[in-house]
Amino acid sequence: MMIELRGVYKQFQNHQLFTDLNLSIKARETVVLFGPSGSGKTVLIKMCLGLIKPDRGEIYLDGERIDNLPEKQLTQIRMKTGTLFQYYALFDSLTVSQNVAFYLANHTDMTEEEINTRVREILIQVNLDGNQHLKPAELSGGMQKRVGIARALVHQPKIIFYDSPTDGLDPVTADRIIDLIKKLDTDLGTTSLVISNDMNTAFRVADRMGMIYNGNILQIGTPGAIAASKDPYVYQFIRGLETGPLLDEMEKITSDND
Ligand SMILES: Nc1ncnc2c1ncn2[C@@H]1O[C@H](COP(=O)(O)OP(=O)(O)OP(=O)(O)O)[C@@H](O)[C@H]1O
Ligand SMILES: [Mg+2]
Repeated sequence: MMIELRGVYKQFQNHQLFTDLNLSIKARETVVLFGPSGSGKTVLIKMCLGLIKPDRGEIYLDGERIDNLPEKQLTQIRMKTGTLFQYYALFDSLTVSQNVAFYLANHTDMTEEEINTRVREILIQVNLDGNQHLKPAELSGGMQKRVGIARALVHQPKIIFYDSPTDGLDPVTADRIIDLIKKLDTDLGTTSLVISNDMNTAFRVADRMGMIYNGNILQIGTPGAIAASKDPYVYQFIRGLETGPLLDEMEKITSDND
């Protein structure tokens, strides 16, 4: 397995977020997870990167246990990964090119020329060629997202985490990002964990997809199996229906927190 979570528990204050979460993702597989806001999708990715520690359970990347590693070894492991964070976290004072080049310049011994060539290639792939010299504040949200993707991919990692890659993009740009994710998965043989509540994205990129709800993965399967699911939560969520068990329970959770 390339990504594996075994019996993961995670609690914040008195809020039990995950109870006995299990997930296995094979090499070259693309798995999409979806679920309500606050269900723990971003926390799950952060646990896979060792940025948040689970309270119990084990997490493995490429066969190596990472949840109990010291920071120095985590840095090594993280080099195998690339992450598009939900709020992309670009360096404000650096240009597009410098943001994308950052990893290569600091963690590899590539020459400046090699770096420039690689950065140029990836910027063309995300359709940002010509914007190299702009700073994040001068970019639209969609452009910032694409810089985030370029930065996650520039070192050609084995494992890629995409947190909500098409959120807030126009449909045409979103389609381009979906095609890019698919192309990279096929061309480079990467293993990807994609978080997306956009069902167009989810159904188009997933080999398997699953719903996170109430501390666990409710159901996971092929897009066909999920589309045909009779689970009332999955059924309602993937169709965005107003009636069903979800809204009632989510309203209850919200009012409990007030
Ligand atoms: N570092 C933290 N400390 C305390 N609580 C946290 C922390 N990170 C996340 N949480 C809580 O964990 C829960 C899940 O958060 P998370 O960001 O994973 O949700 P999400 O599923 O990604 O939602 P969205 O779809 O809105 O991005 C939330 O209730 C959040 O408040
Ligand atoms: Mg999130």
